[in-house]
Amino acid sequence: MAQSQVSSGGFYSSSWLQNQWLRVVVQIVHVFTAIVLVGVPFVVRYVVIPQADSATTAEVVEGFYSVWPLIIAVVIFSTGFLNFLFANAGSGNSFIGSFFTQFGLLVLVKIGLLLAIDVISILLGINDDFQADAETWLIVLMTLGVVAVIIGGTLHRGPIKIEASSS
Ligand code: HEM
Repeated sequence: MAQSQVSSGGFYSSSWLQNQWLRVVVQIVHVFTAIVLVGVPFVVRYVVIPQADSATTAEVVEGFYSVWPLIIAVVIFSTGFLNFLFANAGSGNSFIGSFFTQFGLLVLVKIGLLLAIDVISILLGINDDFQADAETWLIVLMTLGVVAVIIGGTLHRGPIKIEASSS
């Protein structure tokens, strides 16, 4: 049964996890990178491609999908991971145990979505077949990003609260 647990001790007892300013800055960076992650495929698909007269769709995506998705992935992963630690602060859970809660499993789903987004982004930059079907893949990227945003919005604000893990 879902149950809040507050305890001193354990992995999540470090005082820096309670630093409000650090939490705010990390959350702002996380949300900002999420906007870029979902916004870029949207702009490329619905603004840049329709208006590119001299470049083909393949050339446009090859130009856009180079280094930035990797940078975004590193930033969104590290800020998301910190968010996860902040959210579990004071829960009394072990580090591994905190993943075996509803909250933790949803975060694992988000990590999976981020991996899928990055594999597709890399392939859009280098693979002819992906570039030939770029308009569809850009919609897939947006959709995966929006699913991650919906999960992100559900964490904490929705019914999925931090609970005590059984391990
Ligand atoms: C796939 C790309 C991702 C997108 C688009 C995304 C987006 C978001 C958004 C919009 C929020 C809600 C912020 C708020 O309500 O203030 C959020 C929260 C959160 N995200 Fe992500 N995220 C992504 C990946 C990740 C990853 C990889 C992790 C973990 C490693 C993660 C961990 C979290 C956590 C723990 C929260 C809840 C923060 C809280 O305590 O309120 N996210 N995310």
